[in-house]
Amino acid sequence: MRKGVSTRPPVFVTRPIPEAGLRRVRDACEVRMWEGELPPPKEVILKEVAECEGLLCLLTDPIDAEVVGAGRHLRVISQMAVGVDNIDLEAATARGIPVGHTPGVLTEATADLTFALLLAAARRIPEGIEYVRQGRWRTWEPMVLLGREVWGKTLGIVGLGRIGTAVARRARGFAMRVLYHSRSRKPDLEAELGVEYTPLDDLLAQADFVSLHCPLTPETHHLIDEEALRRMKPTAILINAARGPVVDTDALLRALREGWIEAAGLDVTDPEPLPADHPLLDLPNCIVIPHLGSATVAARERMATMAAENLLAGLRGERLPYCANPEVYEAR
Ligand code: DGY
Repeated sequence: MRKGVSTRPPVFVTRPIPEAGLRRVRDACEVRMWEGELPPPKEVILKEVAECEGLLCLLTDPIDAEVVGAGRHLRVISQMAVGVDNIDLEAATARGIPVGHTPGVLTEATADLTFALLLAAARRIPEGIEYVRQGRWRTWEPMVLLGREVWGKTLGIVGLGRIGTAVARRARGFAMRVLYHSRSRKPDLEAELGVEYTPLDDLLAQADFVSLHCPLTPETHHLIDEEALRRMKPTAILINAARGPVVDTDALLRALREGWIEAAGLDVTDPEPLPADHPLLDLPNCIVIPHLGSATVAARERMATMAAENLLAGLRGERLPYCANPEVYEAR
Protein backbone atom coordinates (compact mmCIF):
# COMPACT_ATOMS: atom_id res chain seq x y z
CA MET A 1 0.00 0.00 0.00
CA ARG A 2 1.36 3.47 -0.84
CA LYS A 3 2.08 5.36 2.35
CA GLY A 4 -0.33 8.12 3.20
CA VAL A 5 -2.62 7.39 0.29
CA SER A 6 -5.13 4.85 1.54
CA THR A 7 -5.46 2.28 4.29
CA ARG A 8 -7.65 0.21 1.98
CA PRO A 9 -5.75 -0.22 -1.25
CA PRO A 10 -7.87 -0.08 -4.41
CA VAL A 11 -8.04 -3.39 -6.25
CA PHE A 12 -9.75 -4.38 -9.47
CA VAL A 13 -11.57 -7.72 -9.51
CA THR A 14 -12.40 -8.57 -13.11
CA ARG A 15 -15.58 -10.58 -12.36
CA PRO A 16 -17.61 -11.77 -9.40
CA ILE A 17 -15.84 -14.70 -7.73
CA PRO A 18 -16.97 -17.03 -4.91
CA GLU A 19 -17.73 -15.20 -1.71
CA ALA A 20 -15.14 -17.27 0.22
CA GLY A 21 -12.41 -15.26 -1.52
CA LEU A 22 -14.22 -12.02 -2.24
CA ARG A 23 -15.09 -11.51 1.43
CA ARG A 24 -11.41 -11.51 2.38
CA VAL A 25 -10.58 -9.02 -0.32
CA ARG A 26 -13.50 -6.74 0.63
CA ASP A 27 -12.44 -6.80 4.30
CA ALA A 28 -9.04 -5.36 3.45
CA CYS A 29 -9.40 -3.43 0.22
CA GLU A 30 -11.49 -0.97 -1.71
CA VAL A 31 -12.92 -3.36 -4.26
CA ARG A 32 -13.82 -2.24 -7.76
CA MET A 33 -15.48 -5.12 -9.51
CA TRP A 34 -16.57 -5.68 -13.10
CA GLU A 35 -20.07 -7.06 -12.62
CA GLY A 36 -20.60 -8.22 -16.20
CA GLU A 37 -21.24 -11.83 -17.14
CA LEU A 38 -18.61 -11.50 -19.84
CA PRO A 39 -15.01 -10.39 -19.22
CA PRO A 40 -14.32 -6.66 -19.06
CA PRO A 41 -13.16 -5.09 -22.33
CA LYS A 42 -9.44 -4.39 -22.45
CA GLU A 43 -9.99 -0.62 -22.24
CA VAL A 44 -11.72 -1.13 -18.91
CA ILE A 45 -8.86 -3.26 -17.60
CA LEU A 46 -6.35 -0.63 -18.75
CA LYS A 47 -8.26 2.15 -17.04
CA GLU A 48 -8.74 0.21 -13.80
CA VAL A 49 -5.17 -1.05 -13.47
CA ALA A 50 -3.94 2.51 -13.93
CA GLU A 51 -5.70 3.38 -10.68
CA CYS A 52 -5.35 0.17 -8.65
CA GLU A 53 -2.67 -1.42 -6.51
CA GLY A 54 -3.93 -4.95 -6.94
CA LEU A 55 -5.51 -6.90 -9.77
CA LEU A 56 -7.51 -10.10 -9.25
CA CYS A 57 -8.08 -11.56 -12.69
CA LEU A 58 -9.27 -14.64 -14.55
CA LEU A 59 -7.85 -16.66 -17.43
CA THR A 60 -10.19 -14.81 -19.81
CA ASP A 61 -8.43 -11.47 -19.20
CA PRO A 62 -5.57 -10.51 -21.51
CA ILE A 63 -2.96 -9.26 -19.04
CA ASP A 64 -0.36 -8.40 -21.65
CA ALA A 65 2.63 -6.04 -21.53
CA GLU A 66 0.36 -3.05 -22.24
CA VAL A 67 -1.85 -3.84 -19.24
CA VAL A 68 1.14 -4.51 -17.00
CA GLY A 69 2.72 -1.26 -18.17
CA ALA A 70 -0.48 0.68 -17.48
CA GLY A 71 -0.49 -0.47 -13.85
CA ARG A 72 1.63 2.39 -12.55
CA HIS A 73 0.80 1.60 -8.91
CA LEU A 74 0.22 -2.13 -9.40
CA ARG A 75 1.90 -4.20 -6.69
CA VAL A 76 0.41 -7.61 -7.32
CA ILE A 77 -1.49 -9.58 -9.97
CA SER A 78 -3.47 -12.50 -8.62
CA GLN A 79 -5.08 -14.91 -11.05
CA MET A 80 -7.87 -17.25 -9.99
CA ALA A 81 -6.53 -20.16 -12.07
CA VAL A 82 -3.48 -22.34 -12.15
CA GLY A 83 -2.64 -21.59 -15.80
CA VAL A 84 -1.23 -18.13 -16.44
CA ASP A 85 -0.77 -18.19 -20.22
CA ASN A 86 -2.97 -15.07 -20.51
CA ILE A 87 -0.48 -13.07 -18.45
CA ASP A 88 2.79 -11.65 -19.73
CA LEU A 89 4.91 -12.99 -16.88
CA GLU A 90 8.11 -11.50 -18.28
CA ALA A 91 6.59 -8.03 -18.36
CA ALA A 92 5.33 -8.45 -14.79
CA THR A 93 8.70 -9.71 -13.57
CA ALA A 94 10.51 -6.87 -15.34
CA ARG A 95 8.29 -4.42 -13.44
CA GLY A 96 8.84 -6.29 -10.16
CA ILE A 97 5.19 -7.36 -9.92
CA PRO A 98 4.59 -10.82 -8.45
CA VAL A 99 1.89 -12.91 -10.13
CA GLY A 100 -0.17 -15.29 -8.02
CA HIS A 101 -1.99 -18.41 -9.21
CA THR A 102 -3.89 -21.34 -7.68
CA PRO A 103 -2.02 -24.64 -8.10
CA GLY A 104 -3.06 -27.82 -6.32
CA VAL A 105 -6.62 -27.00 -5.32
CA LEU A 106 -8.18 -27.89 -8.66
CA THR A 107 -6.06 -30.92 -9.44
CA GLU A 108 -8.53 -33.63 -8.43
CA ALA A 109 -11.55 -31.82 -9.87
CA THR A 110 -9.80 -31.46 -13.22
CA ALA A 111 -8.61 -35.08 -13.19
CA ASP A 112 -12.18 -36.24 -12.46
CA LEU A 113 -13.45 -34.16 -15.37
CA THR A 114 -10.77 -35.57 -17.65
CA PHE A 115 -11.87 -39.08 -16.83
CA ALA A 116 -15.51 -38.11 -17.28
CA LEU A 117 -14.70 -36.87 -20.80
CA LEU A 118 -12.64 -39.95 -21.55
CA LEU A 119 -15.42 -42.31 -20.50
CA ALA A 120 -18.10 -40.22 -22.19
CA ALA A 121 -16.19 -40.22 -25.49
CA ALA A 122 -15.26 -43.91 -25.26
CA ARG A 123 -18.80 -45.03 -24.46
CA ARG A 124 -20.55 -42.41 -26.62
CA ILE A 125 -22.63 -41.10 -23.73
CA PRO A 126 -23.78 -37.81 -25.36
CA GLU A 127 -24.87 -39.71 -28.47
CA GLY A 128 -26.79 -42.12 -26.24
CA ILE A 129 -28.55 -39.24 -24.47
CA GLU A 130 -29.49 -37.71 -27.80
CA TYR A 131 -30.75 -41.09 -29.07
CA VAL A 132 -33.12 -41.42 -26.13
CA ARG A 133 -34.28 -37.79 -26.36
CA GLN A 134 -35.08 -38.20 -30.05
CA GLY A 135 -37.36 -41.16 -29.27
CA ARG A 136 -35.12 -43.57 -31.18
CA TRP A 137 -34.80 -46.04 -28.26
CA ARG A 138 -37.30 -48.70 -29.24
CA THR A 139 -35.53 -51.86 -28.13
CA TRP A 140 -32.21 -53.22 -26.87
CA GLU A 141 -29.94 -53.00 -29.89
CA PRO A 142 -27.10 -55.48 -30.43
CA MET A 143 -25.25 -53.19 -32.87
CA VAL A 144 -26.09 -49.62 -31.94
CA LEU A 145 -23.81 -47.05 -30.27
CA LEU A 146 -20.94 -49.45 -29.74
CA GLY A 147 -18.01 -47.70 -28.12
CA ARG A 148 -14.50 -48.54 -26.99
CA GLU A 149 -13.41 -50.30 -23.83
CA VAL A 150 -11.36 -48.39 -21.29
CA TRP A 151 -10.39 -51.18 -18.89
CA GLY A 152 -6.88 -52.45 -19.58
CA LYS A 153 -6.23 -50.06 -22.48
CA THR A 154 -3.23 -47.78 -22.98
CA LEU A 155 -3.43 -44.17 -21.86
CA GLY A 156 -0.87 -41.64 -23.11
CA ILE A 157 -0.51 -38.62 -20.84
CA VAL A 158 1.17 -35.55 -22.30
CA GLY A 159 2.40 -33.44 -19.38
CA LEU A 160 2.86 -35.32 -16.12
CA GLY A 161 2.42 -32.41 -13.72
CA ARG A 162 -0.10 -32.36 -10.89
CA ILE A 163 -3.17 -32.96 -13.03
CA GLY A 164 -1.50 -35.47 -15.37
CA THR A 165 -0.35 -37.43 -12.31
CA ALA A 166 -3.84 -37.37 -10.80
CA VAL A 167 -5.19 -38.73 -14.09
CA ALA A 168 -2.53 -41.49 -14.03
CA ARG A 169 -3.67 -42.48 -10.53
CA ARG A 170 -7.25 -42.83 -11.76
CA ALA A 171 -6.07 -44.85 -14.75
CA ARG A 172 -4.59 -47.44 -12.38
CA GLY A 173 -8.14 -48.18 -11.19
CA PHE A 174 -8.97 -49.08 -14.78
CA ALA A 175 -5.93 -51.36 -15.07
CA MET A 176 -4.57 -49.13 -17.82
CA ARG A 177 -1.02 -49.12 -19.08
CA VAL A 178 0.08 -45.51 -18.72
CA LEU A 179 2.65 -43.91 -21.00
CA TYR A 180 3.71 -40.34 -20.38
CA HIS A 181 5.62 -37.62 -22.11
CA SER A 182 6.81 -34.63 -20.13
CA ARG A 183 9.50 -31.94 -20.19
CA SER A 184 11.48 -34.00 -17.71
CA ARG A 185 11.41 -37.64 -16.65
CA LYS A 186 9.77 -38.44 -13.32
CA PRO A 187 11.60 -41.50 -11.92
CA ASP A 188 9.71 -41.29 -8.60
CA LEU A 189 6.35 -41.45 -10.35
CA GLU A 190 7.58 -44.18 -12.67
CA ALA A 191 8.40 -46.24 -9.58
CA GLU A 192 5.25 -45.34 -7.67
CA LEU A 193 2.64 -45.52 -10.43
CA GLY A 194 4.33 -47.69 -13.03
CA VAL A 195 4.00 -44.97 -15.67
CA GLU A 196 6.39 -45.33 -18.59
CA TYR A 197 8.31 -42.40 -20.07
CA THR A 198 7.78 -42.51 -23.84
CA PRO A 199 8.90 -40.22 -26.68
CA LEU A 200 5.88 -38.27 -27.93
CA ASP A 201 5.74 -39.92 -31.36
CA ASP A 202 5.72 -43.40 -29.80
CA LEU A 203 3.14 -42.38 -27.22
CA LEU A 204 0.86 -41.09 -29.97
CA ALA A 205 1.29 -44.27 -31.98
CA GLN A 206 0.64 -46.65 -29.07
CA ALA A 207 -2.04 -44.97 -26.95
CA ASP A 208 -5.73 -45.84 -27.14
CA PHE A 209 -6.40 -42.56 -25.31
CA VAL A 210 -4.20 -39.47 -25.46
CA SER A 211 -4.85 -36.99 -22.67
CA LEU A 212 -3.26 -33.52 -22.71
CA HIS A 213 -2.15 -31.91 -19.45
CA CYS A 214 0.74 -29.64 -20.45
CA PRO A 215 0.73 -25.87 -19.98
CA LEU A 216 0.34 -23.67 -23.06
CA THR A 217 3.76 -22.32 -24.00
CA PRO A 218 5.37 -21.46 -27.35
CA GLU A 219 6.71 -25.06 -27.34
CA THR A 220 3.32 -26.71 -26.78
CA HIS A 221 1.31 -24.44 -29.12
CA HIS A 222 -0.16 -26.82 -31.77
CA LEU A 223 1.79 -29.71 -30.28
CA ILE A 224 -1.05 -31.86 -31.57
CA ASP A 225 -1.02 -30.88 -35.22
CA GLU A 226 -1.82 -32.81 -38.40
CA GLU A 227 1.37 -34.86 -38.16
CA ALA A 228 0.67 -35.81 -34.54
CA LEU A 229 -2.95 -36.70 -35.25
CA ARG A 230 -1.94 -38.86 -38.20
CA ARG A 231 0.41 -40.78 -35.90
CA MET A 232 -2.46 -41.77 -33.62
CA LYS A 233 -4.42 -44.99 -34.04
CA PRO A 234 -7.64 -44.71 -36.07
CA THR A 235 -9.42 -46.04 -32.97
CA ALA A 236 -7.75 -43.55 -30.61
CA ILE A 237 -9.54 -40.90 -28.58
CA LEU A 238 -8.02 -37.49 -27.83
CA ILE A 239 -8.85 -35.67 -24.60
CA ASN A 240 -7.89 -32.03 -24.05
CA ALA A 241 -8.44 -30.54 -20.59
CA ALA A 242 -5.32 -28.35 -20.78
CA ARG A 243 -5.50 -25.37 -23.14
CA GLY A 244 -7.22 -25.18 -26.54
CA PRO A 245 -4.25 -24.00 -28.61
CA VAL A 246 -2.21 -27.09 -27.69
CA VAL A 247 -4.30 -28.69 -30.47
CA ASP A 248 -4.51 -27.40 -34.05
CA THR A 249 -8.30 -27.13 -34.36
CA ASP A 250 -8.41 -27.29 -38.18
CA ALA A 251 -6.28 -30.44 -38.18
CA LEU A 252 -8.47 -31.98 -35.47
CA LEU A 253 -11.60 -31.22 -37.48
CA ARG A 254 -10.17 -33.07 -40.48
CA ALA A 255 -8.92 -35.92 -38.27
CA LEU A 256 -12.40 -36.46 -36.83
CA ARG A 257 -14.19 -36.07 -40.16
CA GLU A 258 -11.82 -38.30 -42.10
CA GLY A 259 -11.33 -40.95 -39.41
CA TRP A 260 -7.63 -40.45 -38.66
CA ILE A 261 -8.76 -40.81 -35.03
CA GLU A 262 -12.05 -42.03 -33.64
CA ALA A 263 -13.20 -39.30 -31.28
CA ALA A 264 -12.26 -36.33 -29.13
CA GLY A 265 -13.38 -34.96 -25.79
CA LEU A 266 -12.57 -31.28 -25.37
CA ASP A 267 -12.92 -29.20 -22.23
CA VAL A 268 -10.91 -26.43 -23.88
CA THR A 269 -10.92 -25.19 -27.46
CA ASP A 270 -9.26 -22.77 -29.83
CA PRO A 271 -10.97 -20.41 -30.25
CA GLU A 272 -12.50 -20.33 -26.80
CA PRO A 273 -15.39 -20.05 -26.48
CA LEU A 274 -16.17 -22.12 -29.55
CA PRO A 275 -18.94 -20.40 -31.58
CA ALA A 276 -22.21 -22.35 -31.61
CA ASP A 277 -21.98 -22.74 -35.40
CA HIS A 278 -18.44 -24.17 -35.32
CA PRO A 279 -18.17 -27.32 -37.52
CA LEU A 280 -16.66 -29.32 -34.63
CA LEU A 281 -20.06 -29.14 -32.94
CA ASP A 282 -21.71 -30.92 -35.88
CA LEU A 283 -19.59 -34.01 -35.35
CA PRO A 284 -21.10 -36.84 -33.29
CA ASN A 285 -17.57 -38.04 -32.44
CA CYS A 286 -16.57 -34.78 -30.79
CA ILE A 287 -17.67 -33.86 -27.27
CA VAL A 288 -17.17 -30.21 -26.34
CA ILE A 289 -17.84 -28.80 -22.88
CA PRO A 290 -17.20 -25.21 -21.74
CA HIS A 291 -13.88 -25.32 -19.80
CA LEU A 292 -15.34 -27.00 -16.72
CA GLY A 293 -12.19 -28.69 -15.37
CA SER A 294 -12.22 -26.89 -12.03
CA ALA A 295 -15.97 -26.27 -11.97
CA THR A 296 -16.92 -27.78 -8.63
CA VAL A 297 -18.23 -25.70 -5.74
CA ALA A 298 -15.34 -26.76 -3.51
CA ALA A 299 -12.57 -26.22 -6.08
CA ARG A 300 -13.81 -22.77 -7.08
CA GLU A 301 -14.11 -21.73 -3.41
CA ARG A 302 -10.55 -22.89 -2.77
CA MET A 303 -9.33 -21.10 -5.89
CA ALA A 304 -11.02 -17.85 -4.85
CA THR A 305 -9.57 -18.13 -1.35
CA MET A 306 -6.08 -18.73 -2.68
CA ALA A 307 -6.40 -15.86 -5.13
CA ALA A 308 -7.41 -13.60 -2.22
CA GLU A 309 -4.47 -14.82 -0.12
CA ASN A 310 -2.05 -14.09 -2.94
CA LEU A 311 -3.55 -10.66 -3.54
CA LEU A 312 -3.45 -9.64 0.11
CA ALA A 313 0.09 -10.94 0.62
CA GLY A 314 1.25 -8.90 -2.37
CA LEU A 315 -0.44 -5.77 -1.06
CA ARG A 316 1.24 -6.26 2.32
CA GLY A 317 4.58 -6.51 0.53
CA GLU A 318 4.94 -10.17 1.55
CA ARG A 319 6.04 -13.03 -0.65
CA LEU A 320 3.04 -14.58 -2.43
CA PRO A 321 2.24 -18.03 -1.04
CA TYR A 322 1.58 -19.31 -4.59
CA CYS A 323 3.70 -17.35 -7.02
CA ALA A 324 3.91 -18.03 -10.77
CA ASN A 325 7.00 -15.86 -11.30
CA PRO A 326 9.19 -16.47 -8.22
CA GLU A 327 12.14 -15.02 -10.14
CA VAL A 328 10.60 -11.65 -9.35
CA TYR A 329 12.01 -12.01 -5.84
CA GLU A 330 15.52 -12.79 -7.05
CA ALA A 331 15.59 -9.58 -9.06
CA ARG A 332 14.85 -7.52 -5.93
C1 DGY B 1 -6.90 -23.26 -14.68
O1 DGY B 1 -7.00 -23.02 -13.46
O2 DGY B 1 -5.92 -22.95 -15.34
C2 DGY B 1 -8.05 -23.98 -15.33
O3 DGY B 1 -7.94 -24.03 -16.69
C3 DGY B 1 -9.37 -23.38 -14.93
O4 DGY B 1 -9.59 -23.68 -13.63
